[in-house]
Amino acid sequence: MNLEIFKKYNRPGPRYTSYPPATFFQGGFTPAQYIEQIGISNYDKPQNISFYVHIPFCNRLCHFCGCTTGISQKEEVIRAYIDAIIKEIKTVAKYLDPNRKVSQIHWGGGTPNAINMSYLEEIMQVFHDNFNFVEKPEIAAECHPGELDFEDIDRMAAAGFNRISLGVQDFDPAILKLVNRIPSKRPVEDLVARMKANGFNGVNLDLIYGLPGQTRESFAENIRKVIEVSPDRLATFSYAHVPWVKSAQKILEKRGLPTPDEKLEMFLEGLNGLTSAGYVAIGMDHYAKADDDLSLALKNKTLHRNFQGYVTRETTGQVYGFGSSSITQLWGAYIQNVKTFKEYIEEISKNGLATDKAYVMTPENLVVREVITEIMCNGRMDFDEVGAQFGKDAEEIKRITQFTPEKLQELIDDQLVSIEGNTVNVHKEGFFVVRNIAMAFDPLLKTSDAMYSKTI
Ligand SMILES: C[S@@+](CC[C@H](N)C(=O)[O-])C[C@H]1O[C@@H](n2cnc3c(N)ncnc32)[C@H](O)[C@@H]1O
Ligand code: SF4
Repeated sequence: MNLEIFKKYNRPGPRYTSYPPATFFQGGFTPAQYIEQIGISNYDKPQNISFYVHIPFCNRLCHFCGCTTGISQKEEVIRAYIDAIIKEIKTVAKYLDPNRKVSQIHWGGGTPNAINMSYLEEIMQVFHDNFNFVEKPEIAAECHPGELDFEDIDRMAAAGFNRISLGVQDFDPAILKLVNRIPSKRPVEDLVARMKANGFNGVNLDLIYGLPGQTRESFAENIRKVIEVSPDRLATFSYAHVPWVKSAQKILEKRGLPTPDEKLEMFLEGLNGLTSAGYVAIGMDHYAKADDDLSLALKNKTLHRNFQGYVTRETTGQVYGFGSSSITQLWGAYIQNVKTFKEYIEEISKNGLATDKAYVMTPENLVVREVITEIMCNGRMDFDEVGAQFGKDAEEIKRITQFTPEKLQELIDDQLVSIEGNTVNVHKEGFFVVRNIAMAFDPLLKTSDAMYSKTI
């Protein structure tokens, strides 16, 4: 992969974990409007149900963090937060069609394992008491290895969890110290071995490149270590520096952030090292073993994307979020809860729901989302095929996406993408600039949009 090409396309742009991006959500969405949308979701693409649970607490705040979280609170506050989540689950259960089954639950944060395991068990029980599940649901949690002990993994397995994503970020404790992060309590390889012994279907590790103190060599060492630990999946996230949103990130500027060139070298270390070791690259920042569901979905062109990133199961139109700041992702609307845990507890006590911002999709948005999802996930998009889904012809889809071939010309000249008739094909190297390709089909994107982080 050519370094110059990467540099050229290293521009700010949406990550397209949703379409339109969350920056388009508008405030003032009421619980009654949410209930109406839940009703619609029971018959508009009413496939299986997915849940997202947000735990907005961490025992120490990492200075690089871009997540919606805060420092852990006293036990009574955590208890009140858990009670609010339980109340929200029971409220939503009243409006969801009981014939629909739960196929996936994803716990994120913050740090789900920064609170007592008994809370996770309690909420899992509430889910089971209120919903029917498919035979093998996917129950996943993002865990901090600094807070995770062997017994916690055993308890999570007993509560039904079968996937854990471990936020390693960097194996070197000296780097973690520079970014104020708690190091792993146990060797990561031992935690992974314990998960595998418990029969977990998939283990994912997260790494970040672009942190202070990291170099090409140190990142290559991380990649060597990952290959040794041999997780099923790996995410190598480019550090997103957005100090205008996350003021704690300013501290890292003083510690000395790697240059864009150094970041690119780290990215390439990851790409070359991991693909040589047999991992399949999925989009810009994910890798999976060749026999993992994610790689198979890429091969079979059945990959999907939502706020949790690339996923194997079709979830568009069916993720219901619980907890502060969580986002419900329905076919026809995105709905986000109030941001802070304090507002959340208060709103839930009043209404049983805590909606704040939302975006209700227009018929045009649905078309653009389909086009962008095809590009981002499957690297191929056919105007006729998308048109057929919406009862329109190819020309109408081009008009809705405001697509003109000139928008892709630079990327075509660099052989990252090609157009054949009405089909757009992303080339292998093009997958690493796939956000830039997707941007050519986004009529809402303004060229001056600098509020997004850069691609790499
Ligand atoms: C909610 S955290 C995972 C669970 C746990 N809190 C932890 O840190 O291990 C989600 C992931 O987002 C990634 N992340 C956080 N801030 C980021 C940033 N500014 N840029 C890129 N990735 C980031 C990290 O890799 C982290 O593992
Ligand atoms: S532990 Fe995870 S969520 Fe918490 S501050 Fe660190 S990166 Fe952010």
